[in-house]
Amino acid sequence: MIIESLELKNYRNYKELHMDLHPGTNVLYGDNAQGKTNILESMYVCATTKSHKGSRDREIINFGEDESHIKMNIRKNDVLPHRHAP
Ligand SMILES: Nc1ncnc2c1ncn2[C@@H]1O[C@H](COP(=O)(O)OP(=O)(O)OP(=O)(O)O)[C@@H](O)[C@H]1O
Ligand SMILES: [Mg+2]
Repeated sequence: MIIESLELKNYRNYKELHMDLHPGTNVLYGDNAQGKTNILESMYVCATTKSHKGSRDREIINFGEDESHIKMNIRKNDVLPHRHAP
């Protein structure tokens, strides 16, 4: 599975984020507390509905906001299409 892009709205410290990802390896670099782990967490939440940190849902919403949105475009190019037996 390849994550092609990620969009966040009011997710932890991100008011708005749109990120296109490379199909190969992606490196997130930045200062401490800049939000690198939050990006990874948002992908995990989008895929599983839960935070890998065990946070409550309320804690992932940007401080002072009422809701948060995550949109992730994924591509499954290594999965063969389902075929019915003849
Ligand atoms: N609900 C929230 N609303 C706003 N900001 C938040 C929220 N939850 C966490 N943060 C902020 O997110 C930041 C931490 O982000 P994160 O853990 O992703 O950083 P990091 O880049 O992974 O840092 P490190 O290099 O130390 O691992 C902190 O500044 C924290 O205040
Ligand atoms: Mg981190």
